[in-house]
Amino acid sequence: MFALALLTTLLLVTGGVDTFNVMSYANVQYTILYHQYLDISFKTYPFMGYPLQSDWISIPPLYSFTNGFFSGIFWNLLEVNATHNILKMATDLMLPLAPVANMTNTHDVGFVIMSSFGHAYQLLKIPEYLQIVVTTANSLSTRYSPIVRCTRSWDSSQGFLVIIDNMMNLELLFEASNRTNNQTWHDMAWQHANRTMHEHFRADNSTYHVVEYNETDGSVIRKYTAQGYADWSTWSRGQAWAVAGFTIAYRYTKHQPFLDKAIGAANYFLSHLPSEKDVIPYWDFDAPHNSTIPYQPRDTSAAAIFASGLVELSQYVGVQELRDRFLTKAKAIVDQLISPTYLILGNKDYILRAVIANGTQGPYPSHPYDVATVFGDYYLTQAVLRLSKL
Ligand SMILES: *[C@@H]1O[C@H](CO)[C@@H](O)[C@H](O)[C@H]1NC(C)=O
Ligand SMILES: *[C@@H]1O[C@H](CO)[C@@H](O)[C@H](O)[C@H]1NC(C)=O
Ligand SMILES: *[C@@H]1O[C@H](CO)[C@@H](O)[C@H](O)[C@H]1NC(C)=O
Ligand SMILES: *[C@@H]1O[C@H](CO)[C@@H](O)[C@H](O)[C@H]1NC(C)=O
Ligand SMILES: *[C@@H]1O[C@H](CO)[C@@H](O)[C@H](O)[C@H]1NC(C)=O
Ligand SMILES: *[C@@H]1O[C@H](CO)[C@@H](O)[C@H](O)[C@H]1NC(C)=O
Ligand SMILES: *[C@@H]1O[C@H](CO)[C@@H](O)[C@H](O)[C@H]1NC(C)=O
Ligand SMILES: *[C@@H]1O[C@H](CO)[C@@H](O)[C@H](O)[C@H]1NC(C)=O
Ligand SMILES: *[C@@H]1O[C@H](CO)[C@@H](O)[C@H](O)[C@H]1NC(C)=O
Repeated sequence: MFALALLTTLLLVTGGVDTFNVMSYANVQYTILYHQYLDISFKTYPFMGYPLQSDWISIPPLYSFTNGFFSGIFWNLLEVNATHNILKMATDLMLPLAPVANMTNTHDVGFVIMSSFGHAYQLLKIPEYLQIVVTTANSLSTRYSPIVRCTRSWDSSQGFLVIIDNMMNLELLFEASNRTNNQTWHDMAWQHANRTMHEHFRADNSTYHVVEYNETDGSVIRKYTAQGYADWSTWSRGQAWAVAGFTIAYRYTKHQPFLDKAIGAANYFLSHLPSEKDVIPYWDFDAPHNSTIPYQPRDTSAAAIFASGLVELSQYVGVQELRDRFLTKAKAIVDQLISPTYLILGNKDYILRAVIANGTQGPYPSHPYDVATVFGDYYLTQAVLRLSKL
């Protein structure tokens, strides 16, 4: 009842916003999916899917960084269309994720909990939801090493691994700290961002995917890729995580170097798009494309993550010209993502219940490519939501 009272306020606040129908379309597609997964009691959640097939590749709720996004899409939709139906779907898909709060064997708890409980708390201020966020921050903090000055990404016998994606998990530590005044979490996230700023970037502002540290003395052992084309190349989704992640770090710290890094990473991303008019990146900026290697897939998820991060970043940029450029580019990317080329609706043969196609897991061709991804759809709806609030 408490939630519904607040929701009425929300409805009044956002009721008049007119956001393009990609949000309505996402609502249609994901409502159908919700009922499909309800029929199997939410034993699994959608991960990726081939658009010519009707079933998603699915993963149980506690086992993937992507599992908050199904609920997260509905929290994004709720902000532009505050109905009881959407609230119910968002909540039903979120509650099975609560046990993630106690998981200490993965860094992905930040992705999972912030896209679900974190967003839900921001909208509804239900204390139990904040408690989940705080418990999760406690769990994630056990992965922090004061010697490496980072939280560990993947558990591995092979050193202390940190991936650029992990910048996104810092949001949980920053937010939990902000809400509880526990400075420790803020300091951990700050240190992680600072170390990543020094180690993950190359001189041209492109990024490495993985940095392996020596846990005993904190030194760097090697830098390489797991999902990109080569150790020296730039995986476009990793670069998108860097832009969005350093923008979040700046949101909570106002530390100028983090903003500068986000800007540098964004400029690199923009200057490596196929052309002025074609703004959807290939899955890796350096993947060779020539007469012997005629095909490389795009990664619409990288485009969506980047566009969403770029909308927020544009709001922190002081120089008007750069601010406008970032915003114009973010809109152009969203426009191209929701054009018939990439929209599921744009191809009569596509039957998967999703919003956009042509995401890539990487590395190509050994992993799924030209697939819909739940994270591509999530960050697209987040980008559209953010644009609608400007
Ligand atoms: C808002 O959500 C309801 C379902 O809860 C749906 O019937 C309606 O079409 C949605 N409106 C828009 C504009 O998407
Ligand atoms: C986390 O574990 C504690 C201690 O076992 C338990 O009390 C709590 O309910 C758990 N939290 C969630 C969200 O499962
Ligand atoms: C603050 O965070 C640290 C690290 O997770 C934890 O040990 C400590 O108990 C927290 N303090 C409070 C008051 O929650
Ligand atoms: C930030 O990281 C750099 C490189 O690791 C280090 O030299 C510097 O001392 C760090 N800054 C703080 C305030 O810890
Ligand atoms: C890690 O650092 C310790 C202490 O400097 C050293 O003894 C060890 O050989 C290093 N391990 C690797 C894999 O470099
Ligand atoms: C953090 O908390 C303060 C007040 O406690 C608030 O003013 C600020 O906007 C919050 N958010 C961020 C992103 O720092
Ligand atoms: C990298 O980014 C920084 C910070 O925005 C900027 O000062 C620098 O010129 C960029 N480097 C290149 C090679 O573009
Ligand atoms: C295409 O790129 C591959 C990988 O860089 C290279 O080995 C090959 O020689 C190139 N082919 C042509 C025709 O340039
Ligand atoms: C998108 O994926 C389909 C396969 O599902 C492929 O045929 C098409 O060429 C891809 N589009 C682009 C622009 O890469």
